Amino acid sequence: MSIFDEIVNRNTPEDIKYMKIEGIDDLIPMWVADMDFRSPDEVVDALAAQSKRGVFGYSEADEAYDKAVTGWFRKRYGWEVDPGTVLKLPGVVYGISLAIRALTEKHDSILIFEPLYGPIAKSVKGNDRHLVISDLVRNGTRYEIDFDDMERKIKENNVKMLILCNPHNPVGRVWTGDELMKISEICLKNHMIIVSDEIHADFVYSGHKHIPIASLSDEVNKITITCTSATKSFNIAGIQAANIVIADDSKRRAVDKLSLTTGAYGLNIMGLVATRAAYTYGEKWLDELKVYLEKNIELVKTRLSGTKLKVTDIEGTYLMWIDASELPCDDPAGFFLEKAHIKFSEGSFFSNKASRFIRMNVACPRSVVNEALDRMLKLQEI
Ligand SMILES: Cc1ncc(COP(=O)(O)O)c(C=O)c1O
Repeated sequence: MSIFDEIVNRNTPEDIKYMKIEGIDDLIPMWVADMDFRSPDEVVDALAAQSKRGVFGYSEADEAYDKAVTGWFRKRYGWEVDPGTVLKLPGVVYGISLAIRALTEKHDSILIFEPLYGPIAKSVKGNDRHLVISDLVRNGTRYEIDFDDMERKIKENNVKMLILCNPHNPVGRVWTGDELMKISEICLKNHMIIVSDEIHADFVYSGHKHIPIASLSDEVNKITITCTSATKSFNIAGIQAANIVIADDSKRRAVDKLSLTTGAYGLNIMGLVATRAAYTYGEKWLDELKVYLEKNIELVKTRLSGTKLKVTDIEGTYLMWIDASELPCDDPAGFFLEKAHIKFSEGSFFSNKASRFIRMNVACPRSVVNEALDRMLKLQEI
């Protein structure tokens, strides 16, 4: 038995994933991107020790924190980062929003690849920037970047910034060195800034490797803002903490200055303690978790093969992007909620062209994945 087989009780009123839905008392929530597993003991113990001390004053990252973060980058991605270039902020989306505001002007064009985690487009538009979408192209069960479309749209719209997601939520791609090289060449040629959301970097499976785009060369490093966090990797999203790497001094100062004016800067004490413990002691736990998740992914692929649900290949993340357009309904997420009491993320959250897709979060005990699949496969429409 694996530690990840344990059913952890998340039925508390403040838990978003398990929010009560009227009329449903046997809900399987497979939507929002956090996991049903307990965080590593070392993280829980560090938070408990801090709580016991009973002091929750203002805090600042110490040397051990810097060492833990940059040590993780070096060990896991072969990426050398100067701790002085890391801004600590209360979240990745917040970091992206600050980068948009600090490094582009109102009405500037910003390009994203869709389908994409919804809050990114919202942040672009909400900050009064012009959103330019280059749709990822589906090639069988895998998505690819249409580089011609990307370049054409950059030129036509005078695009100033690319917001990349690597590994990509929701299509599960881990961009290759060649793809990243092509992306960065286009951005350099067009004098663009790259904001790279790498929050899923620790979930990369056999045969694939996470390459931080900033690590490609000094030139690329200078134009890149890399948004990282331990929150997805160690299931601590509620502590809200992110490390934003900005090598170029003037860009980093601009983002830092804006963060000070918003009043939300630095790390809360629990975010600091949890991140430091996770990156210092969490490696073994994470490696075991990845093996477990990979088996969950295989299970879903195997059991859904030959059905009307077309499962996208997954190289990274624990989020499976499923084409449900062969089902006789316009709203597959609503369909599964009503008929099987399973809550998936709706495709329209990621692109208005994807309303007949669902995203399935498989970061839960295998028995739960099997129960969800049993319920799905019982439906005659599948
Ligand atoms: C790609 C991506 N970026 C950012 C976030 C959220 O990050 P944060 O909570 O640090 O703002 C998520 C959460 O699901 C995500 O999938």
